[in-house]
Amino acid sequence: MSDIHSVSSAQWNLQDLSTAQRMQALAVLEDGGVLVLPHLPFAELDTVRWLLDPKWADPRRKNISFDSTSQSLRGVHADAAVCEAVRTLMGGFQNLALVLIAALAPRYAAQMRTAPVSLRLHEVQGRQSSWRADDSRLHIDAFPSRPNRGERILRVFRNINPDGKARIWRVGEPFIDVARRFGGQVPRYRRAHAIVLNMLGMTRSVRSPYDHTMLHLHDRMKADLDYQRTCPQSSVPFAPHTTWVCFSDQTSHAAMSGQFLLEQTLHPTVAVMQNPAKAPIAVLDSMFHRSMR
Ligand code: SIN
Ligand code: FE
Repeated sequence: MSDIHSVSSAQWNLQDLSTAQRMQALAVLEDGGVLVLPHLPFAELDTVRWLLDPKWADPRRKNISFDSTSQSLRGVHADAAVCEAVRTLMGGFQNLALVLIAALAPRYAAQMRTAPVSLRLHEVQGRQSSWRADDSRLHIDAFPSRPNRGERILRVFRNINPDGKARIWRVGEPFIDVARRFGGQVPRYRRAHAIVLNMLGMTRSVRSPYDHTMLHLHDRMKADLDYQRTCPQSSVPFAPHTTWVCFSDQTSHAAMSGQFLLEQTLHPTVAVMQNPAKAPIAVLDSMFHRSMR
């Protein structure tokens, strides 16, 4: 089972922790664990409780997304005043998530892309989707259309439910066990096939052997209902006002229920990790005895 590690800090910049506590938290994170921070304040939300209503969100989209660089907001069905309030809320969370990661892992900032911040207003439980898009099945994150060639997927989540409702996840076995179990089922990578997918516009760039392998691990996990039921796992409730962080390309996870979430994805490179040998690409390289690049 992946480690669930509680961090007692009440400050986004972690100034109330010792260096040893910060180093320990970073080691757990890079090892595929989940950091849970129940005490971080988020006053921004107090004045905009009225925003927490699915009526503002496009029902066809899983989330609202905001790119703070271009100020582009997607997935909101509302007038300009509501859009402005959503931008403020999401931008505020993005800033705090960046402060948190800078404090936890100062080296990451040197090589890290910041993805748009996401707001999810819909209840997770009972959502209809294909098995492949069903995030209530244990999986590691891998994006079909956005190859990342080994760059990490680091996510900061916050449960902003105003009614006392926890967000319930299942957390599964360590990445190396997932890779051992399903690695043999990954079909051979064909570069020509990856190039064709890219030419057809189905991927933003050409998938590398790493992207190919991670996507197949994601799919094999989700497709195996017996594995979903019987693999080592535990149910983890994230109470309202809780923030949590994990490498979602490494931590096996599933979202079972809950409503109202803020999420920030960051993409540090493997090179800036404290321990690059823990990255999925390094684990796969040594398991398959070849480079996944
Ligand atoms: C996921 O990343 O699979 C879903 C996370 C969530 O909605 O809680
Ligand atoms: Fe996921």
